Amino acid sequence: MKLPASSLLTAAFLLGQAKAGWTNESEVPFYGLSPPVYPTLQGSGSTSPTWTLAYKRAREFVSQLTLEEKVNMTNGFTGVCVGNSGSVPRLGFKGLCFEDAPAGIRGPDFVSAFPAGMHLGQTWDKKLMRAYGKALGEEYHGKGVNVALGPVGGGIGRVTRAGRNWEGPGPDPYLTGEQMEAIVLGVQGEGVIACSKHWLLNEQEYRRLPSALGESMSSNVDDATIHELYAWPFMNALRAGTGAIMCSYQRANNSYSCQNSKLLNGLLKTELGFEGFVVSDWAAQQSGISTANAGLDIVMPNAGWWGKNLTQAVNNGSVSIDRLDDMVTRTLASYFFLDQNTTLPSPQIFSPTVQHPILDVRGDHDKLIREIGSAGHILVKNTNNTLPLKKPRYVSIFGFDAEVKPVPWTNPLRYGGGYEVNFGWETFNGTLIVGGGSGSNTPSYIISPFKAIQDRVIADRGVLRWDFYSQDPVPEANTEVALVFINAYASESFDRTSLSDEFSDTLVLNVASKHPNTVVILHSAGPRVVDAWIEHENITAVIFAGLPGQESGHALVDVLYGDVNPSGKLIHTIAKRDEDYGNVLNSTVDQSAFPQSDFTEGVYIDYRAFDRDGIEPRFSFGYGLSYTSFEYSGINIAQTTGAHTSAYPSSDVSVVQGGHPELWDVLFNVTASITNVGKVAGAEAAQLYLGIPTAPIRQLRGFDKVFLKPNETATVAFALTRRDLSIWDVVAQQWKLQSAVYNVSVGASSRDLRLNSILSV
Ligand SMILES: *[C@@H]1O[C@H](CO)[C@@H](O)[C@H](O)[C@H]1NC(C)=O
Ligand SMILES: *[C@@H]1O[C@H](CO)[C@@H](O)[C@H](O)[C@H]1NC(C)=O
Ligand SMILES: *[C@@H]1O[C@H](CO)[C@@H](O)[C@H](O)[C@H]1NC(C)=O
Ligand SMILES: *[C@@H]1O[C@H](CO)[C@@H](O)[C@H](O)[C@H]1NC(C)=O
Ligand SMILES: *[C@@H]1O[C@H](CO)[C@@H](O)[C@H](O)[C@H]1NC(C)=O
Ligand SMILES: *[C@@H]1O[C@H](CO)[C@@H](O)[C@H](O)[C@H]1NC(C)=O
Ligand SMILES: *[C@@H]1O[C@H](CO)[C@@H](O)[C@H](O)[C@H]1NC(C)=O
Ligand SMILES: *[C@@H]1O[C@H](CO)[C@@H](O)[C@H](O)[C@H]1NC(C)=O
Ligand SMILES: *[C@@H]1O[C@H](CO)[C@@H](O)[C@H](O)[C@H]1NC(C)=O
Ligand SMILES: *[C@@H]1O[C@H](CO)[C@@H](O)[C@H](O)[C@H]1NC(C)=O
Ligand SMILES: *[C@@H]1O[C@H](CO)[C@@H](O)[C@H](O)[C@H]1NC(C)=O
Ligand SMILES: *[C@@H]1O[C@H](CO)[C@@H](O)[C@H](O)[C@H]1NC(C)=O
Repeated sequence: MKLPASSLLTAAFLLGQAKAGWTNESEVPFYGLSPPVYPTLQGSGSTSPTWTLAYKRAREFVSQLTLEEKVNMTNGFTGVCVGNSGSVPRLGFKGLCFEDAPAGIRGPDFVSAFPAGMHLGQTWDKKLMRAYGKALGEEYHGKGVNVALGPVGGGIGRVTRAGRNWEGPGPDPYLTGEQMEAIVLGVQGEGVIACSKHWLLNEQEYRRLPSALGESMSSNVDDATIHELYAWPFMNALRAGTGAIMCSYQRANNSYSCQNSKLLNGLLKTELGFEGFVVSDWAAQQSGISTANAGLDIVMPNAGWWGKNLTQAVNNGSVSIDRLDDMVTRTLASYFFLDQNTTLPSPQIFSPTVQHPILDVRGDHDKLIREIGSAGHILVKNTNNTLPLKKPRYVSIFGFDAEVKPVPWTNPLRYGGGYEVNFGWETFNGTLIVGGGSGSNTPSYIISPFKAIQDRVIADRGVLRWDFYSQDPVPEANTEVALVFINAYASESFDRTSLSDEFSDTLVLNVASKHPNTVVILHSAGPRVVDAWIEHENITAVIFAGLPGQESGHALVDVLYGDVNPSGKLIHTIAKRDEDYGNVLNSTVDQSAFPQSDFTEGVYIDYRAFDRDGIEPRFSFGYGLSYTSFEYSGINIAQTTGAHTSAYPSSDVSVVQGGHPELWDVLFNVTASITNVGKVAGAEAAQLYLGIPTAPIRQLRGFDKVFLKPNETATVAFALTRRDLSIWDVVAQQWKLQSAVYNVSVGASSRDLRLNSILSV
């Protein structure tokens, strides 16, 4: 076998090839090795005036440091935060405090439990995304946290059953990019470094880390797919200024993400002009010199393979002093970029389990959480306008998801992580407001559906009956509406094995068989199929209630009773059967020592695959009902005057953070009119889909949400940038704008296209 001349080749990799019996190159599975890209491009601060100043201050500081002090800053220590970088006591630098994220500060008390990233995505509302980031930023700042470990844009949700899909806004890169951008701007606007994660291709939990079986999974993805799908949302985060990026656990083309020079030195730091620092996911570092030279800047949560070894490696020339200086300079540049030297208080992260002073950073975020909560609820069925409820006097509640967890909450560090009462691992015995693992949060309280509905029934002078745990509850003869609550659970560290569970489906069917007006409310950490009961004649309404955070019950009641008109839309295709998701339904199971996951589907995940294969979904991507209806009219496409439409961006312009600046030039502005033709006020998230030649039949390339009173009309606008219209050219290694005719559609979902037109480049 011919060996690539790459210092990436670890002994382990070679061993793996031997073990797997590969004798020649054509037998190396699929893509093989990640191409070497060395050395790391040093952060320069040249891409914006704020970065320039930050780099000036960082370099001044670094010039005063000893070798030992520099090395000390590149790794984690035990301390009050989830991650604590080394400090420089001699010069008064206290080090950086890192905290989980991404749906609220996880760990301390007197913080808010925000809706999960998936839920925020379901609002399709850029203003709410920005407000979410700002509120998070205020809480991190209040607790003295330097780095918030979010937002999440990867795993993007390639694998339908993957365990962490709910942490971000789902499998569409455009929607995910807009959300990451808004959150980064919001968080960093408060002086906190956003750490966008996970870079890159961490699309499943199964074998994400090395284990007794062998190395971690290798995500093998072609260059065009990396650009058009997986790196895309991170470009928005970078452009918004994200000061940190977290490298991920698994391997890509057989090289660990935190030592993959193609991903870090190549794509991130050179092509996308990243000025900040790369931090490893917790314990994701698998080698010393390789990680340093591939572009890792800080290892967490401890010294990992660095510490004294890194000092030695610098002394013996395996790692250059320039590389070490660059690590520290990048870290301090982000710190100065956000003025943390002067504005940020010292970290005050108190464990809820010991006595401590009160530091309440919640402000009035409960209001925003409730607003996002209701805006992210998706109404998918509403026979004969059974909703909104019209002051029913007799209400019944069924199901394990209606009330808070039935056992004591013994792990104050994370809600939603208690597997002890999950049945079959697919559900959470208690109301689900967030998924499990490090992306979970620490609610100060939870408004359960039961509490909020009970308060409403009391106000209406009604009668409430309930049975949370029976699978076949005794029917309530007088009830006007039976509300059934179920959920679908998912967590970091394991993938789902089904998109539904029998206990819940049977419960729903049992209730429906005895109650002619049954409403199903479903909290789910990812897509959940509903075909076991969706067409049941007695099931009159169904709400996908997402993962709404601490104000769950209030947000639901606002929608159920019509105080808020539902306007959430699906961020996943809901299939009729699990199998309809095809090869990407399950995580890749490979028991070999060097497991491989070949992303042969390219960009064809979720609606792109359903559209290509002509599979009828139960509910399409972008779908959601309202209590009113909207009419679309008057699509107009205006080419921006003077927009240059050459095939490639100019070659004499240098990149800024996020990539080539011309990728963001607006080439076309598409507008349309939306009119509320129903009887009540409501909001509509209009969506623009673009048919790019040689690409999927349609892809989301714009969304705009407008609030309209009855009979009111508003204009929605979608600015199409060069990137929105381009494909990745693997030969030119550049985004290419094809000279062609593009189909443009504006509609209420990916399969409800109301206005169709074309544009020509
Ligand atoms: C390399 O592997 C391929 C595929 O198994 C096989 O067809 C070919 O004969 C092998 N070549 C050599 C030189 O062994
Ligand atoms: C993985 O290999 C494919 C095929 O050679 C290549 O297109 C892609 O850029 C590689 N990605 C990484 C991260 O090495
Ligand atoms: C390294 O950082 C640790 C943790 O903040 C600190 O205790 C120690 O004094 C630092 N060492 C040096 C040499 O500055
Ligand atoms: C932070 O600012 C103080 C006072 O302005 C200064 O003395 C100190 O050196 C600065 N620290 C760093 C790390 O720049
Ligand atoms: C240094 O390298 C050795 C292996 O050579 C490893 O066991 C150790 O954990 C590394 N890290 C530190 C901080 O010494
Ligand atoms: C340099 O030091 C590192 C860290 O101890 C060690 O792993 C490496 O083998 C050394 N290289 C040489 C050429 O001595
Ligand atoms: C919905 O309304 C239609 C027409 O009035 C009626 O035939 C049907 O029975 C109603 N369905 C339910 C579930 O109430
Ligand atoms: C959920 O928890 C309750 C209270 O502990 C228990 O009665 C019930 O059996 C549990 N449900 C399942 C399906 O495990
Ligand atoms: C997916 O995984 C489930 C549960 O592990 C298994 O039963 C099923 O056969 C798998 N389906 C496919 C399409 O691989
Ligand atoms: C619907 O509910 C009624 C009770 O009101 C029941 O008689 C009927 O069988 C139910 N329909 C089905 C399909 O279960
Ligand atoms: C697009 O058109 C709308 C409506 O005329 C306008 O408000 C908006 O500023 C335009 N956007 C761009 C980028 O030209
Ligand atoms: C909406 O317009 C229609 C037709 O012009 C009119 O009959 C109706 O009263 C209007 N509704 C509202 C709420 O203004």
